[in-house]
Amino acid sequence: MPKAENDKLVSARRHRVTSRWNLDDEIVLIRSGSVLPMAGSDMEHSFHPHPDFAYLTGRGIPDAVLVYDAKEKHWELFGPRSSVDDQVWHQPADPIGLPLEELEGWLKAREGRQIIEANTNTEVQNGIGEERIRKDEMELAALRSAAATSKAGFDWVYNTASAGMTEREVQVGMEAEFFRAGAVRTAYPSIVASGPNGAFLHYFYGQDDSLNPATRVIESGELLLIDAGGEFSGYASDVTRTMVVGAEPSDVQTFLWKVVLSAQELAIDRCRPGQEWREIHLDSARVIGSGLLELGLLRGEVDELVASGAVALFYPHGLGHLIGLTVHDAGGYPTGREPSSHPQSRYLRTDRPLEAGMITSVEPGVYFIDALLGDPALRNQFIDEVVWSEVDALRGFGGIRIEDDVHITNAEPEVLSGDIAKPLRIG
Ligand code: GLY
Ligand code: MN
Ligand code: MN
Repeated sequence: MPKAENDKLVSARRHRVTSRWNLDDEIVLIRSGSVLPMAGSDMEHSFHPHPDFAYLTGRGIPDAVLVYDAKEKHWELFGPRSSVDDQVWHQPADPIGLPLEELEGWLKAREGRQIIEANTNTEVQNGIGEERIRKDEMELAALRSAAATSKAGFDWVYNTASAGMTEREVQVGMEAEFFRAGAVRTAYPSIVASGPNGAFLHYFYGQDDSLNPATRVIESGELLLIDAGGEFSGYASDVTRTMVVGAEPSDVQTFLWKVVLSAQELAIDRCRPGQEWREIHLDSARVIGSGLLELGLLRGEVDELVASGAVALFYPHGLGHLIGLTVHDAGGYPTGREPSSHPQSRYLRTDRPLEAGMITSVEPGVYFIDALLGDPALRNQFIDEVVWSEVDALRGFGGIRIEDDVHITNAEPEVLSGDIAKPLRIG
């Protein structure tokens, strides 16, 4: 998109945000943030600009400050200039806005006025967050490009991954394709989980974790759950596919995979303006619950099984979340709505009616999670609703999740990741 077009969109974002703010003559400071030092080291973590700053500037360098003078209705951007010393160690960043040194004088000229730090002021932050939930053309272009980088990685998996490879081999091969396709980084740590590891919802490897993807070999006939995505121009992609590797899927794998897919398809079709996200989530839980009933893992009536929390033993997470400058994006709960403590909804990251321009993930799943299924209190609580002998036979099965990124429009939902295939079997 030409720069003039981008500038116009950024200026429209600022205008919409200030219309939401109830300000008089205050000064608002929106900081990009600083690089975070690694503890005990002179190295730094990779820099992520504050998404509110990125949204209102289209830029992402550290230590920059966007300021707004509510009296003059005037925006000004201040950015650091790299010193020769900085440039010895790092390539120079584009100079943006006025030199940061001039901020102090700019504020002094407005002495006595109230200064609001945006990231500590809920009202100001909500004003930005409420705008960030609807994406403009520039953001949609970045989100589509992010999804395209993910497609390159998943295609590599479908063509290359096989039984006998380690989780790590699959991860690095896939991520290489994200980067080759233009991703700036992964949108979050990739989840590549084989067999029982698929039952950890966020299976990221840490140095001292007992499970090690570098030595974890994918066995023939196991499920492989991959939740990964590229980031492009600051915007995330968030995609999950689950497949059986190197063998004919078993009846149970096939059945549950189809149940998850049908929950996802039903939910994607409901991704239309005016639909309440919480209701779609609960309906997806009913689809999963019906599948578990049909398979003989649950007893009873599906609405009651969702209401009692029995389905949540197998589908504990939320159907999805808004996506944008962060993978779990702003605007989850509007003022007046609070997260629920009910087991089926407590991890629901969004609770609001859908609107055109939103991007939401749609990611139902079914898992056999030891921490829940082995908990004596839960086993006792659900003694009548769960057929424990059948469920215990499936401990170690892992998990199945299928996730796409959906753009809500006034017409059909646009699935940004929709051309990433969903094979039940690979290898
Ligand atoms: N990849 C993180 C999530 O799906 O929420
Ligand atoms: Mn995901
Ligand atoms: Mn997600």
